Amino acid sequence: MEELIREAEGARAGAYAPYSQFRVGAAIETESGEVFRGCNVENASFGLTICAERVALAAAVAAGHRRFRRIAISTRAEVPTPPCGACRQVLAEFAPELEVLSDAGELRQLWRLDELLPVRFALKRAGRDGTHDDGRMDG
Ligand code: THU
Repeated sequence: MEELIREAEGARAGAYAPYSQFRVGAAIETESGEVFRGCNVENASFGLTICAERVALAAAVAAGHRRFRRIAISTRAEVPTPPCGACRQVLAEFAPELEVLSDAGELRQLWRLDELLPVRFALKRAGRDGTHDDGRMDG
C-alpha cells in the first residue's frame, strides 16, 4: 500500500488545477499488480473537469485491464477526501469492492467502495448483471 500511495503522490505532480488549486493524484492497482496513474484535469468550462480517479481508471481500462484491487488518492486537503459520487459510480462499474485509500499527507483513511456507494446504478439484462464480470454492457 505504501508503494501505491507513493505512485498517487507522484501522479499529483501532473495535476492541472489552475481554477481550484486543489491538486489530486490517484494510482489504481490491477488484480495482476500493475499500477496506472491519474491526476485531475480542470477546464475553463468548469463542469468538464475530470477527477484523478477517473483518469487513472480510464488509463488502466484503455491498457486492457478490467479487474482492480485498490486505488490510492493523494491530496493536501486538511482531512483525507473520498472519491466524488461520479467517480464512485465509475469505479463500481469494474470493482464494487475496491479498497479506497486516501492520503492527505498527515492523515490517511481507508474505505471499501461498497461502503461509499452501497447501491450503484447497473443495467440488468436477461437475468444477468452486465457490469464488471466480463466488462461488457451489451451482447
Ligand atoms: N477532484 C478529484 O480529482 N478527485 C476527487 O475525488 C474530488 C475532486 C478534483 C476535481 C477538481 O479539479 C478539484 O478536485 C476540486 O474539486
